[in-house]
Amino acid sequence: MAGTEIVELAKRRGFFFGSNGAYGGTAGFYTFGPQGAALKRNVEDAWRDRFTVAEGNQEIEAPNIMPEAVFEASGHLDGFDDMLVECGECGESHRADHLVEGATSIEDAEALPGSEVELLIRDHGIACPSCGTPLAGQDVEDFNLMFATDIGPGDSQPGYLRPETAQGIFVEFPRLKEYARGRLPFGVTQVGAAYRNEISPRGGLLRLREFTQAELEQFIHPEDDEPPLWKVADVEVLLYPADEQEAEDGDYVETTVGEAVDEGVVGSPWVGYYLGVAQEWYERVGVDMDRFRFRQHLPGERAHYAADCWDAESEVDGDWIEIAGFSYRADYDLSKHGEYGDDAFTVFQRYDEPKTVERATVDPDMATLGPEFGGRAAAVAEALEDLAARDPDAFEADAVSVEVDGETVTVDADVANFSVEEVTENGEHVTPHVVEPSFGVGRTVQTLLAHAYRVDEVDGEERSYLSLEPALAPTDAAVFPLVTNEETLVETARSVANDLREQGLSVAYDDSGSIGRRYRRQDEVGTPFCVTVDRDGLEGDGPDTVTVRERDTAAQVRVPVDGLADALAPLLAGEDSFESFLDAYETVDSGVETQ
Ligand code: GLY
Repeated sequence: MAGTEIVELAKRRGFFFGSNGAYGGTAGFYTFGPQGAALKRNVEDAWRDRFTVAEGNQEIEAPNIMPEAVFEASGHLDGFDDMLVECGECGESHRADHLVEGATSIEDAEALPGSEVELLIRDHGIACPSCGTPLAGQDVEDFNLMFATDIGPGDSQPGYLRPETAQGIFVEFPRLKEYARGRLPFGVTQVGAAYRNEISPRGGLLRLREFTQAELEQFIHPEDDEPPLWKVADVEVLLYPADEQEAEDGDYVETTVGEAVDEGVVGSPWVGYYLGVAQEWYERVGVDMDRFRFRQHLPGERAHYAADCWDAESEVDGDWIEIAGFSYRADYDLSKHGEYGDDAFTVFQRYDEPKTVERATVDPDMATLGPEFGGRAAAVAEALEDLAARDPDAFEADAVSVEVDGETVTVDADVANFSVEEVTENGEHVTPHVVEPSFGVGRTVQTLLAHAYRVDEVDGEERSYLSLEPALAPTDAAVFPLVTNEETLVETARSVANDLREQGLSVAYDDSGSIGRRYRRQDEVGTPFCVTVDRDGLEGDGPDTVTVRERDTAAQVRVPVDGLADALAPLLAGEDSFESFLDAYETVDSGVETQ
């Protein structure tokens, strides 16, 4: 299905549409309509079930606005930039790296310096996509993607809308570790909005300025903690490693998670573990696994915090789009917050048995240092202590040199009173490493719509429908009276709808237009079951039976209305299929389709 078709269907049927239409629209902002909001919520719930609950992790909800100091520490203030080129003629802004990628065979122009991108724009005669004026000679500048704001009136402090939900987890690590009773490994999740002032937002939900992330920050001891890799070792994955992308005849690697980790194709077992969990999750929620791969970031493509990163990518409209990232962030974030913040971003790991270790110490002779260095004597003593911890061998020489306030200071080694003592240690302070599966919720929604879209023929007419997994579909069932001009059928159908709602199903009721049209409307929004009240089912005061039609096959069976919600429950949960209804109940000739 073409991207424009899905965006059109999404708008027509209430999945999503550009926001603020009454005011001319605002690029990069989308509103989820009733169907889309329900589908998105179901994606989030399915994600929570798997990545929070089933993993035994904890979910938090942090503010969207955070003070500048957080982003100074995280590196976003300095390093979270895209390459901007502005058209000298029409003033439109563009992603310079994307223009170069479109006009050359370069796949990763973001990794190039701006000056080189300027030359490529000139040499390839790249013109402004909006007005056609050549962009040669225009500066390529770094544009920080964070939305800035003021916190409070008057002498307000600068703040930013978070560009990733992750930072709300990292800054609270000193408290979160207490909730985990200081024990690694533990994971914290967050589902919420993130904001990036994209230079060129893209169609649909692919590149927005406000979007929803579902992120898991897995805190681990870098040497000691192992993931339960055995749980996903046999999961088959299609990998596209960085070296294969760079090779002339590079190709995909079809393997299992276990082999990929054993053979070092995926460097971190934790990243491998989450690739396996994600592969199974994506399949369960309805991503077409023939249009899915994991692609490793090229070295120049990685975010400033990532030591390694694999993206989950889905094919939509002929393009591969990133729908999740699996980063090995190492100790980058916690070390930075430890450096800039006032709290301890480490955990104390108690040893199984106390250890006796040799510790190099100094006891500088202040009676000598004082007269020699005056006000700087304490700083010299501190520098000597640091040196003893870092490089004890330095004290074997007659004199040792240290840096104090940018100046090299040399003292007699004797003055330091260097010694090595045996001390008993019960544990150590460790800065945990972070492994981060980070999912784009909107992109997952768009992928599900694109992969679920089908066109076939029913009763001689073309129909389009969304073959969404029942558990993810916005609506569980629709209820109709077969014809709308019979009061009894209409009233009974309304009451069936209400009964099902009271039993917890999300139900649409529709008595407008022909039954065929009503089926089509539900098919187009992916409602898995349509329940129709007809005359044949009415005996006595209420319906004894209704027909239940399954979306993909359009097959119908006659089912007792008593206990219908319970009968549908396993089908809606994805634990059983409509086959069991076909086996258990009388099949109905679906001639009703065209009435
Ligand atoms: N936390 C990863 C990202 O926002 O891309």
